[in-house]
Order: sequence, then structure tokens, then C-alpha cells
Amino acid sequence: MNFNLPILAPSILAADFTNLESDIKKAIKGGANWIHCDIMDGHFVPNISFGPGVVKQVSKISGDAFIDVHLMIENPDDYIDNFVEAGADMITVHYETTPHLHRSVQKIKSHGIMAGVVVNPATSLFNIEPILEYVDMVLIMTVNPGYGGQSFIESSYHKIKELVDIRETGEYGFLIQIDGGVNLKNIQKIAKAGADVLVAGNSVFSAKDIPARVKELMDKIS
Ligand code: DX5
Ligand code: ZN
Repeated sequence: MNFNLPILAPSILAADFTNLESDIKKAIKGGANWIHCDIMDGHFVPNISFGPGVVKQVSKISGDAFIDVHLMIENPDDYIDNFVEAGADMITVHYETTPHLHRSVQKIKSHGIMAGVVVNPATSLFNIEPILEYVDMVLIMTVNPGYGGQSFIESSYHKIKELVDIRETGEYGFLIQIDGGVNLKNIQKIAKAGADVLVAGNSVFSAKDIPARVKELMDKIS
């Protein structure tokens, strides 16, 4: 699949869930065409968010927007089918949640959708080297997963550049996604460091004018 990079991916975790359809449509009106869905189980991360039922609704109202499902859950393999049925175009699983990461990635791809691997801030990229040839995206967590509205971990810039180098040396084709603490002030620097997909939750959905904020963020990385 060809994407017009870099991409802004609003995370609906920060949306107003009493007006979810309207918030998503505002983000799309501003130019977003990639929706990031944060699935949290209260075990792998301390927070509980939403499940396949909400993703199904989101997929229905998001037109042809790309639905990116970020699984911050234990035993992710048990839920892959549900999120595929719900309309996920991509599912990313945390390296830290599955002892059989290669099997998880194979299972996602067997459904004909894209597969990604996620690493937490304290997880070295060298842990995921063996899987890099199989994934469509690597998600670098730039906050500790579980909540929106946290500050970007500054050492992440080095990790992004490290991953760009690994991709170049290994001639891999995966996208690099950055997730957590992205805002108007740092988005340009993060894109320049090598991010292809930039997730933004609070900086999008806390804005008074969501379409204008999406446009503002996208203008900074175009
Ligand atoms: C955190 C989630 C992120 C978060 C981003 O666990 O994976 O996607 O919602 O939200 P902001 O942009 O507010 O940090
Ligand atoms: Zn996320």
C-alpha cells in the first residue's frame, strides 16, 4: 500500500466519546485519513479504553480512512480476529506482550491486513530485529503506554534515528510510527528525525477547532 508520507494519525483515545462521530468527522474534515485506535485492557497498561465494538463503529463512520489498531493488551493473539472483523486495516502488537511475536504477525497478515510491532520506551530495537523483515510498521512508543496527554520522552529522537539506520542498512520497507506526546511544538522535529506516521491525541482533540488543528499539524510536516 502506498502512503503519502508523513502521515498524521489522530488517536481517538483523546476524543469526546459522547460525541465520537462528530470528533472523528472533524478530524477527517481537517484532512486526516488515518485513525489511531488505542486498545487498553487494564493489565498490560493501567488504563482500560475500548474494544472491537467501538472500532467497528469507528470504521463505519470513518469512510475510507485507514483504521490503525494499537493493541496494548495481554494475549493479543486471542483478539486479532475480532479486530479484523471490526474493520482494522492494520494491527500493531507490543513486543512485550507476546512470546510468539512471529506467529502474531503471521496471524495478522493471514487476514490480508497490515501488521506492526510496538516497542516501549525501555525496550531496545535489537529485540525486534528478527521480525523487521515481516512487518509493515514499527511503532516507537514515545511515552509510557496507557494514557494520552503525557510528555514526549526526549531520548526517543535517538531511537527514531537508530531505527532509520537499521531500516536503511537492512533495506527493510517498514513504516516508522511515533506515538505519544506529539504536539505543535515538536511535530516538525519528530518528522525530521524520520517518523513516517505521527500519532497525536490530545493535541488534536483538545483543540477548540479540531479541523484547524489537524490542518496546522499536517502543514508542519508537509
Ligand atoms: C498511549 C497511546 C497514545 C496516546 C497518544 O498509550 O498509545 O496513542 O493516546 O495521545 P497523546 O498524543 O495525547 O500523547
Ligand atoms: Zn497508541
